[in-house]
Amino acid sequence: MADTLNVSTWKEAVEFAPGVHWIGALDPTLRTFDIILRTANGTTYNSYLVRGSEGVAIIDTVKEGFEDEFFHRLESVARYDEIKVIVLNHLEPDHSGALPELMRRAPQARLYISTRATTMLKALLRPNREEPFEYTTVTTNDRVSLGDRHLRFLHTPFLHWPDTQCTYLEEQQVLFSGDVFGCHYCDSRLFNDRVGDFRFSFDYYYAHIMRPFKQWVMEALALIEPLKMKIVAPTHGPILRERPRRYVAHYRELSTSSLSRELGDTDKSLIIFYMSSYGNTARMAEAIYSGADTVDGVRVSLYDLEGGEVAPFVDLIEDADALLFGSPTINGDAVKPVWDLLSSLAVVNLKGKIGAAFGSYGWSGEAVRMVEDRMRGLKMRVPREGIRVKLIPTQEELDECTGFGREIANILVGKEVQRGVIEFSDLT
Ligand code: FEO
Repeated sequence: MADTLNVSTWKEAVEFAPGVHWIGALDPTLRTFDIILRTANGTTYNSYLVRGSEGVAIIDTVKEGFEDEFFHRLESVARYDEIKVIVLNHLEPDHSGALPELMRRAPQARLYISTRATTMLKALLRPNREEPFEYTTVTTNDRVSLGDRHLRFLHTPFLHWPDTQCTYLEEQQVLFSGDVFGCHYCDSRLFNDRVGDFRFSFDYYYAHIMRPFKQWVMEALALIEPLKMKIVAPTHGPILRERPRRYVAHYRELSTSSLSRELGDTDKSLIIFYMSSYGNTARMAEAIYSGADTVDGVRVSLYDLEGGEVAPFVDLIEDADALLFGSPTINGDAVKPVWDLLSSLAVVNLKGKIGAAFGSYGWSGEAVRMVEDRMRGLKMRVPREGIRVKLIPTQEELDECTGFGREIANILVGKEVQRGVIEFSDLT
């Protein structure tokens, strides 16, 4: 098949719309990206070249170490003195690695970056250039002309860095989307209608890269969805030329909370997770549950971490409004399942959710404070000091737990003023 090409020998640019070429690089042996992301068959660093009647634009470059491939492909379709415009949609090193050398080879070109990219650009190029360089910052609806072709910019920050933007080629309706709609999937057939089944990679990439920034995804979609779109060209993985809107719609679906649809706008979700070694923390959890459950407008869930996998809990946590973690203290620490869950939450945005901790202990009882610190580190709001009980909770202590659950649930629905917060009414 003509387009099943050998990765190691394939070094030509690939034209996928008149005057629009892929000039990126293939990295089929990569197995771990950015330390945390795994990839079973590598990735691509997609870079694009657009030829207009009055000059050439390069959109994004490649990772350091892949410059030869990139420049070889570029030279196969353009001269450096034809390059008028360089756009960096995102300055992370996997896309800016060849920028310093490209600017040296095409010194007449003007660099276009987002308004938020300025400080990053200076830091990025400092080791490589002694002279200051010229660039233009752009935002939504700014345009640059290549004669008969025009590039329009969309300000789409935090997808997944503050600097990220998209660039739209108006005449041919190609969206150069940066990391958005990308995935770590290396296949030299390049196009979504040619490559293997990359659905898992697409969703995995979204879950680890875009998911913490769902609200920014929604804002970006508001700019992207009205565009006429024949092709979406991301910086990683397949170029989406067959039914590109399907991927845009999938992003909206992934970024919309299913739980909030189910609960409606009024009910709040409060989830209690616990681990218990002798049943004492479990008793506390049940008492807290019974207290929280008395509050109208709160749907309370109780989960023993001993019986669950972490991944589905992460989905629940993302949609929850309040999270309570119960852990005994063993060897001066919270127990591993609790830490496993807490450490897996970097992929979701917890900012502003209410958090609280509780647990039984034998002699020292550090776990509750440690869990609270972690929740604060995740930017959660911890309105009440957690409850600690020495060994077996008495009925009085269980009653206190019930009150604690009710109090947290009331805070959640705005019925109770936080302790330690001075209201103006208290001063009069
Ligand atoms: Fe592909 Fe965020 O760099």
